[in-house]
Amino acid sequence: MMDRLIPISLILLSTLTHVFAQSSTTAPVPTGIPIQGDYTGPLRPRVHYSPPKGFMNDPNGLFKDSNGTWHLYYQYNPTDVVAGNQHWGHATSPDLYTWTNQPIALFPPNSTSGVFSGSIVTDPGNTSGFFPNTTNGVVAIYTLNTPEKQTQEIAYSFDDGYTFTPYAGNPVLDVNSKQFRDPKVVRYGDNWVMVIAFAAEYVIGIYTSPDLKTWTHASNVSHVGFLGVQYECPNLVELPIRSGDNSSNGRGADEEKGWVLTISINPGAPLGGSITQYFPGEFNGTHFTPHDGATRLSNFGKDDYAGQFFYNQSVSIGWASNWEYTNLVPTAKEGWRSSMTLPRENYLVDTGVKGWELVQEIYDLQPIVSNNLTSSRNLVNTSQEVGFGDGNGTAVYFDLNITLPTNITFSPYASINFTFSTASSGEQLKGGYILAGATPYTIWVDRGKTNGFEYPLFTEKFSASQLKPAQRIQGIIDKSLSEIYVDNGALVGTVDVYPTAPFTKLSVGTGDLPEGSNVSLEVWELKDTWA
Ligand SMILES: *[C@@H]1O[C@H](CO)[C@@H](O)[C@H](O)[C@H]1NC(C)=O
Ligand SMILES: *[C@@H]1O[C@H](CO)[C@@H](O)[C@H](O)[C@H]1NC(C)=O
Ligand SMILES: *[C@@H]1O[C@H](CO)[C@@H](O)[C@H](O)[C@H]1NC(C)=O
Ligand SMILES: *[C@@H]1O[C@H](CO)[C@@H](O)[C@H](O)[C@H]1NC(C)=O
Ligand SMILES: *[C@@H]1O[C@H](CO)[C@@H](O)[C@H](O)[C@H]1NC(C)=O
Ligand SMILES: *[C@@H]1O[C@H](CO)[C@@H](O)[C@H](O)[C@H]1NC(C)=O
Ligand SMILES: *[C@@H]1O[C@H](CO)[C@@H](O)[C@H](O)[C@H]1NC(C)=O
Ligand SMILES: *[C@@H]1O[C@H](CO)[C@@H](O)[C@H](O)[C@H]1NC(C)=O
Ligand SMILES: *[C@@H]1O[C@H](CO)[C@@H](O)[C@H](O)[C@H]1NC(C)=O
Ligand SMILES: *[C@@H]1O[C@H](CO)[C@@H](O)[C@H](O)[C@H]1NC(C)=O
Ligand SMILES: *[C@@H]1O[C@H](CO)[C@@H](O)[C@H](O)[C@H]1NC(C)=O
Ligand SMILES: *[C@@H]1O[C@H](CO)[C@@H](O)[C@H](O)[C@H]1NC(C)=O
Repeated sequence: MMDRLIPISLILLSTLTHVFAQSSTTAPVPTGIPIQGDYTGPLRPRVHYSPPKGFMNDPNGLFKDSNGTWHLYYQYNPTDVVAGNQHWGHATSPDLYTWTNQPIALFPPNSTSGVFSGSIVTDPGNTSGFFPNTTNGVVAIYTLNTPEKQTQEIAYSFDDGYTFTPYAGNPVLDVNSKQFRDPKVVRYGDNWVMVIAFAAEYVIGIYTSPDLKTWTHASNVSHVGFLGVQYECPNLVELPIRSGDNSSNGRGADEEKGWVLTISINPGAPLGGSITQYFPGEFNGTHFTPHDGATRLSNFGKDDYAGQFFYNQSVSIGWASNWEYTNLVPTAKEGWRSSMTLPRENYLVDTGVKGWELVQEIYDLQPIVSNNLTSSRNLVNTSQEVGFGDGNGTAVYFDLNITLPTNITFSPYASINFTFSTASSGEQLKGGYILAGATPYTIWVDRGKTNGFEYPLFTEKFSASQLKPAQRIQGIIDKSLSEIYVDNGALVGTVDVYPTAPFTKLSVGTGDLPEGSNVSLEVWELKDTWA
């Protein structure tokens, strides 16, 4: 085990130079078989992915294979519960919630190098030449980190991404830099397009390639948004455009689409540590131009970083942690650290005066929705309480639809509240929506009334405001992680939370709402995907 001081020095190392320490253990890394995990610990999420053991960070290589199976790879230290010794862990799922751990997919060539973040594409047209007789070819594009530099390599798979062969001609992109990483590749016309971070220069490079092997520099996007200390994990994605008032409706066949560039920064996020920012804009195959000068964040909490889009899909997953404290959180006593966010279905909305915004809906929950715990068609100025999980807790989802009279001045006390509580220790995760006051229409979450983790940078309270009152609030508690979605994902808050006893009760209530309001509530138990 590592000394208590080492994680702190690791944080400095990883945040300032992104050079992960190599593992101090000599434990062999299993090849060819999945690593076994104990998923029964009280902090283990039931519907968010977490690694079997060891330390996980960025999602990598997200893609859907020719059989419809979703693949999640991730930055993985299989030999310790702090960052380092980077491999690509791997898990697969039919529904993005129920995951099966697979053998580690990518290994560093030796103990002084690491396989850092990257992406995966499918190559049904054999553009790479790796796939003479198959249409289900898969290519991973990733950063190899060595003490000397960071170069980009590729590896190919004939079996839908379960096993990979590194390309003999690696590296495919080497600019002799120690801070050049996290390639994300998409298809545009007859070309492959890579976005990649010149991390310490605040530049996202755009490269093109006909075959994934030879890359040509096309343009740079420089010094946009918050710089933080480093740029990381860019994504470029074309997303559907939908009308803001029709967010849950089906899409037309000839729907419009728009481009988004995402850039993760660490440290130096407005709330501290790491966060992802995004830029809606135009992309023409070589150049990206943001629509406006605004910087938009993908989350109002602190625990959503390095989000990646599945190849050729509008679905994304982020890393639900923050480099400020990820190497210190108490799940280590259960042998693991870090979870992923929920999967999200993304689209763009033209909000008018505020410009283009990303909306991140919870991906179809239906496969994991279980028992109806309670519901109410009229939760106006009253509250409802429900217990769950037989003393051990479980994952729970609540859904509130809210209709409020328009053109009304709300009472200064008009509010909607929700509280998850533990049975005996009196710990709480509280949240709510404030309809009045100096900043009207504000969602808030407070994780400060829990006792499992104290750290100066483990900020307690988060909030975000809107121009119009919320029409829907959805929330999930999942042991050591909570996510709040306002207006079907117009605002998303991801909040790690560490109680010393499991949450087993939810109370939802509203107060001082005006006449003519209508609030409906449903609370559902979610399936235990690891049972
Ligand atoms: C995917 O489908 C193909 C063709 O149906 C099948 O041969 C292959 O075994 C499947 N792969 C996996 C991993 O299920
Ligand atoms: C480890 O592998 C990298 C990449 O192939 C290489 O540059 C480096 O020299 C190797 N280091 C050792 C000690 O063999
Ligand atoms: C795939 O590419 C390789 C190398 O260019 C080529 O030899 C092979 O014929 C191609 N196969 C198909 C089916 O296009
Ligand atoms: C592709 O098919 C050709 C002709 O059937 C065969 O000679 C070759 O070995 C196959 N290649 C692979 C990689 O399976
Ligand atoms: C793109 O940015 C990189 C990193 O700062 C720089 O080395 C390169 O010269 C830039 N290329 C162009 C064409 O501006
Ligand atoms: C929402 O969808 C309906 C039916 O497709 C359409 O008539 C309506 O104009 C849409 N509303 C907005 C604000 O786009
Ligand atoms: C893409 O945009 C850049 C910058 O505006 C321009 O120089 C280039 O010609 C455009 N390319 C195409 C194919 O339109
Ligand atoms: C949930 O169960 C309650 C009582 O058993 C019932 O009244 C309500 O209609 C159910 N709600 C849903 C959404 O099925
Ligand atoms: C609660 O957890 C304990 C410890 O893991 C276990 O022994 C017990 O069976 C669980 N109870 C229920 C109702 O699941
Ligand atoms: C709200 O009030 C404004 C100004 O009086 C008016 O223009 C608007 O039509 C009203 N909107 C609704 C929905 O009543
Ligand atoms: C909601 O929570 C706030 C802050 O704790 C409290 O002031 C308010 O009375 C609560 N409202 C309701 C309806 O419970
Ligand atoms: C809220 O509205 C959505 C449709 O917009 C519906 O699917 C959901 O069941 C509703 N939930 C509640 C609690 O009424």
